[in-house]
Amino acid sequence: MTTESPAENFVSFGEQGAQLTYGSYLRLPQLLDAQHLESDPPAHDELLFITIHQVYELWFKQLLHEVSAARDAMLGGVDGGRLWWAQHLLTRVHVIERVLVQQIDVLETMTPQDFLEFRQRLAPASGFQSVQFRELEFLSGQKDPAYLKRFKGITSAERAQLDARLAEPTLWDAFLVVLRSFGLAADSERDVSDSLRTVAHDRDQYAVVWALAEALLQHDELAANWRARHVVMVERMIGSKSGTGGSSGSTYLRSRLPVQYYPVLWALRSEL
Ligand code: HEM
Repeated sequence: MTTESPAENFVSFGEQGAQLTYGSYLRLPQLLDAQHLESDPPAHDELLFITIHQVYELWFKQLLHEVSAARDAMLGGVDGGRLWWAQHLLTRVHVIERVLVQQIDVLETMTPQDFLEFRQRLAPASGFQSVQFRELEFLSGQKDPAYLKRFKGITSAERAQLDARLAEPTLWDAFLVVLRSFGLAADSERDVSDSLRTVAHDRDQYAVVWALAEALLQHDELAANWRARHVVMVERMIGSKSGTGGSSGSTYLRSRLPVQYYPVLWALRSEL
């Protein structure tokens, strides 16, 4: 029987990592020093408001990492032998996206009057200026260069990131490569929907293609869920007021609800 306490056992654990600490590895001094309130005197809820946006940006970074890797794996087609990896990563993407939808609940514990304590300090800053959010839309297939003109005050590095996303292949482009690699036509929209019907009716032969199509549809649906959840929260918070980013607010946000990354995948449902 050992008489060592759990704490003593712990001392010998991971000695080779003696240089590294939890705080230094995670850059906690920098991370935890990045929440600077604009309100003075400090409004209680502004810390929550900053924290939640920063958490979103960290997840956006992770999503860009995963979605671009899934896209690259799909660009190799079936011969690249990495379609399983694309499927694996897209499953992770869905789980993260569900977290993004759910964490709006946390922000909704803020009341409109508590938000008003610091809201006037925020203009013209707005989530509308999230470069990573727009990158994710471009990478998913929703490339709209008009957004570049509407961005106010982004850095040249951020502009270069957006330009690069506009130039590079999207997830949808990569999916078309997958279709062609299975000998399926994908040159016109008609070709693609015919090929998708073939895939849907022969899942023995095209199991991976069908799984990837469903994974893209799930990604699309979860993005739509976020937009729907965000606009309802915005209406609860500011009603019909215009946004700090200068848009009409909920009217603009509602105009984006019908966006579909992959309309052909949605149309397929009506054709089966
Ligand atoms: C009190 C909470 C919030 C309010 C009142 C709010 C309000 C708004 C409004 C009015 C817009 C339209 C653009 C504008 O004129 O500003 C907008 C856009 C946007 N917001 Fe929020 N927002 C809130 C929280 C968040 C959070 C937590 C995120 C997470 C990153 C976020 C991300 C975005 C994004 C990405 C857009 C652009 C959407 C698009 O173009 O489709 N917002 N928000």
